[in-house]
Amino acid sequence: MYQYTDFDRQFIRQRAAQYRDQLERNLAGTLGDDEFRPLRLQNGWYVQRYAPMLRVAVPYGELSSAQLRVLAKIAREYDQPDEAVYRTAIDTQGKLGTGRMPVGYGHFTTRQNVQFNWIPLDKSAEVMELLASVDMHGIQTSGNCIRNITSDERAGIAVDESVDPRPYCEILRQWSTLHPEFAFLPRKFKLAVIGAREDRAATAWHDVGLHLLRNEEGEVGFKVLVGGGMGRTPVIASTLREFLPWQQILNYLEAVVRVYNRWGRRDNMYKARIKILVKAEGERFVNEVEAEYEQILLHDGGAHAIPQAELDRVTASFVPPALNCNRSDAEAKIENILRAAAEDDVEFSRWLQQNVSAHKNPDLRAVTLSFKRLGQAPGDATADQLDIAANLADQFSAGEVRVTHDQNLLLPWVRCDQLPELWRAARKAGFARPNIRLLTDMIACPGGDFCALANARSIPIAEAITARYQDMDELHDLGEIDLHISGCINSCGHHHSGHIGILGVDKDGQEWYQVLLGGSDGSRLSGAPQAARVVGPSFGAAEVPDVIEAVLDTYRQTREAGETFIATLRRVGFDTFKQAANAARHPAESTDLAEA
Ligand code: HEM
Ligand code: SF4
Repeated sequence: MYQYTDFDRQFIRQRAAQYRDQLERNLAGTLGDDEFRPLRLQNGWYVQRYAPMLRVAVPYGELSSAQLRVLAKIAREYDQPDEAVYRTAIDTQGKLGTGRMPVGYGHFTTRQNVQFNWIPLDKSAEVMELLASVDMHGIQTSGNCIRNITSDERAGIAVDESVDPRPYCEILRQWSTLHPEFAFLPRKFKLAVIGAREDRAATAWHDVGLHLLRNEEGEVGFKVLVGGGMGRTPVIASTLREFLPWQQILNYLEAVVRVYNRWGRRDNMYKARIKILVKAEGERFVNEVEAEYEQILLHDGGAHAIPQAELDRVTASFVPPALNCNRSDAEAKIENILRAAAEDDVEFSRWLQQNVSAHKNPDLRAVTLSFKRLGQAPGDATADQLDIAANLADQFSAGEVRVTHDQNLLLPWVRCDQLPELWRAARKAGFARPNIRLLTDMIACPGGDFCALANARSIPIAEAITARYQDMDELHDLGEIDLHISGCINSCGHHHSGHIGILGVDKDGQEWYQVLLGGSDGSRLSGAPQAARVVGPSFGAAEVPDVIEAVLDTYRQTREAGETFIATLRRVGFDTFKQAANAARHPAESTDLAEA
């Protein structure tokens, strides 16, 4: 893991102290709510439907067990709804989330951050101090600035990786944090970086996506994608550069963000993201960026050219853990143990297949802990679960976990010979469901249960589908499927990139849901990034599980041997699936809601 410096530590602690002073002045009435609002937002404190919401940055998804324990403490001691507010919420909505009292948990997001939904604002300074004690904060998790950098959950360990993206992510983090010129962009700005063949970070759906690669001479550089995004206008990012030498990445991004800052639409929030500028200007945007980049290079070859020594310094901060692996005798022995255990136990065998991935070090594996279960919203983790994950990280993964794009946790440094023991421990803790990448491993945003912008609830829809697909044999038979659910067109739940997407819409104050098919986030299974298409007018909440079932039944009826859902959908064609979805409407509930 990256080792933060004394400078980082001191800075975050000072920032927490500064925030305490601001909060105290606000509570004392000497700093008005309007003045305090931007100050809290700059530290990740929003105010949502019922309570404040805190977003904590997890740079490129890496968390230590010590950090996890502090997140657990925050969940346990501070994520507590005010009784009266909670009662009002229940009176208004009937129930919250999955129906379980939603107290004492954190929520992992698709951009590898953590959110808390119920922390009282007067406790927020205490929480900032706790976070600072383990090098964490909420800076730039809100506002129109460059947000937390995301990456491949298997960065530095993936077998298909040609360059470890983490040192570059860290250099980008340092460049973009408190960058004075980019604090007030037209809109939020999100970067994702990968260095592997498979895109596990949805880079084409980001404002800027960076692919580290090696050219024929073995030199390292970046393929630069710009202008991806979802929202009401889904756009796949365009390639700006096929190969930019790594030394120039900061200079080049300076040029990209300067052009966006200058020309991005500030008059219309819905047209303010860089995707709109790139789409509208096309070649002119590219030319502007290249001209700006030339200008930057004219000054001493660019103020932000990265020296080799700096890359080396940062790279040296990502020390791989010293694990006691005995290469020579391990491999054959481990293979035998795993084969024998898997033959004995179908559940273990499925877990090996779905939750365990190969590692650059052949003696190690990466293991995903599933946070997708009945009775718990996708991505939610209770305080106890966070503590248990920290213990598993200490015992089996050199004290490190990664947050995944699919809202799970991954243990990146697991010794093969410890897999059976880890499986037993994870199963005891409820983390070993072998459903990774299957239907119930779905992405969902908090939706109407917590988010003030929602049109409809996401969590009860996720819960209803999860309840219907509890049979592991059936789930494995259906195979790998990306189901993505958003509670409104802001698309936090990535419905545009799901093989199956669900979008909450509002009609006359009622909750309705559009169903979309055929999207791709660009990962191995999904193929080239693609926006899903809407099947027709919206469905009522009760209809949605039946619609999903009809779509999946169509897959079962039309698939060829070994063919995945998305491959069948593409071969058979959207219209067949669309017809099946619409035929599943409940006559009494059918609606003439236009395709919104
Ligand atoms: C409940 C608090 C949240 C609020 C108020 C919120 C608000 C928003 C808004 C307004 C946008 C659209 C920005 C735009 O297009 O200009 C957005 C985008 C996004 N949000 Fe959230 N969000 C919340 C929680 C989450 C969570 C929990 C996740 C992950 C599960 C998430 C992931 C994203 C992502 C990935 C995008 C970018 C979509 C795109 O490509 O356009 N957000 N959010
Ligand atoms: S998609 Fe909409 S409902 Fe869901 S978290 Fe984002 S803003 Fe809220």
